[in-house]
Formats: sequence, C-alpha cells, structure tokens
Amino acid sequence: MKVAIIGGTGLRGLGGAAWRPAAGADGQTPYGAASAIPETATFGTVDALFLDRHGAQRIPPHRVNYRANIWLLRELGADCAVAVYAVGAIDAACGTGHIIVPDQLIDYSWGREHTFVEPDGPAWHVDFGEPYDGALRERLIRAAASCIEAERLHRQGVYASVQGPRLESAAEVDRLERDGCTIVGMTGMPEAGLARELELPFAGLAVSVNPAAGRGAGAISEADIKAAAERGAADIENVLQALFRSL
Ligand code: HPA
Repeated sequence: MKVAIIGGTGLRGLGGAAWRPAAGADGQTPYGAASAIPETATFGTVDALFLDRHGAQRIPPHRVNYRANIWLLRELGADCAVAVYAVGAIDAACGTGHIIVPDQLIDYSWGREHTFVEPDGPAWHVDFGEPYDGALRERLIRAAASCIEAERLHRQGVYASVQGPRLESAAEVDRLERDGCTIVGMTGMPEAGLARELELPFAGLAVSVNPAAGRGAGAISEADIKAAAERGAADIENVLQALFRSL
C-alpha cells in the first residue's frame, strides 16, 4: 500500500522513519515541475510518499502546480492521497488546534490550471458529488479518533477553497458561512478535483489555525497562522502514523 501525503503549512515532513528521495523522480512531469521531489519512507507495511505542497521555494497557494503534484504522485504509484491543510475556522466550534476531516467543499478559486481534460480526451465530466473518498475518510476519522480528544475532532466539515493569497474580508467570510462552509483555506482546490480525474482516492485532514476574518479578536497575522500550524503538526503526525498502522 502506497500512501501519498501532501504536506501544507507547518507540516514539512513526518518523523519516525528514514526518508529518502523517491527513486527516479526528478520532480518533472508533462505538466511542468512539481513543488518538490517527493520523499519516501516505510511505516510497517505502508510505503509513504511525502510531497511538500509549497516546496523549498515557498510557492504561494495560487502558484502551486497542482497538476504536476497530483500527476507525479500517481506516476510514483500512490494508491491514495491524504492532503494536509492549515485552515481558518468559519464555524466557531472549530477552535484553533482542532482537527477536521472535511466531507464537502466549495471551490471559490479561479485562474488555476484545474483539469487534465483535453479536447480529445476520453471523458470530460467526472463525478464529484462526494469530493473525498468515503473509505479513506472513514479510516482517517478512525485514526484521528484514536489520538485526538473527541471535543477537538470534527468528523465532517465544508471546506471553502478560496484563491488567496490574501485573507478574506469579514463580509466574504459571512458569505462563505451562508453558503454552508465551516472552514476556509487556499489549497483545497483544484487538488481534490485533479485527484478525482486521475481516480486517486483522496481525503483531507485539516487543522484549524485561526478564527476566520471577522470571527476573532483583531487582525490575523501570518506569523500566528504559521505558529499554530506548527503546533498542530504534532497532532497531524500522530493521526497519519495511526492511519499507517491501520492499513
Ligand atoms: N483563510 C484562508 N486560508 C487560511 C486561513 C484563513 O483564515 N487560515 C489559514 N489558511
């Protein structure tokens, strides 16, 4: 079983194993360069592949080459992928440090290369009614429940994937809430849609790092987001290790 992990802000790797660059990968794809050369390590029976979404160059969310990243993970033989996100909380129940396994998303991003579909391709319209893989979500939730207190674990959530890189206005967050979104981030799409196009089972694992705009006290600072994401990385690592043990 080969599990790809797409690391976001705060999660630059996973401890407890000897990581090495994935054999044969130079990071190049027919869609251009991926964010980084994926690293590989073994956890029991699981071969993990880790890809740092923002790379060593710190590529901002709107400039990430999502097509190259997903293509490369598929090419390297990933059987499934777990995408890690640092998100803002729209729903006050998702306090800073809480872990969310989203079950739905709304895509507000624009201008990103978001599809592998070509004019002469075999199929244009993939089903996306359930954007995350049900079986992988269930495993992730079970893994999370084994190491995260129930009050801090949200088994569902609606991820608003915004364009960034700026944060939202308070009115924009109000609109996202009216739309039914509970968390907001900048990297949820087109990643999930591209994985679906390549039939790569995909699930998200989010850590809440700030109350969304207008929901907390005062301005949101990037330093605070990074610090909270780094604090959340220990929980994310524990969940992923528990996931690997369950596979
Ligand atoms: N909005 C959008 N993306 C984010 C946020 C936020 O409040 N926090 C972390 N990523």
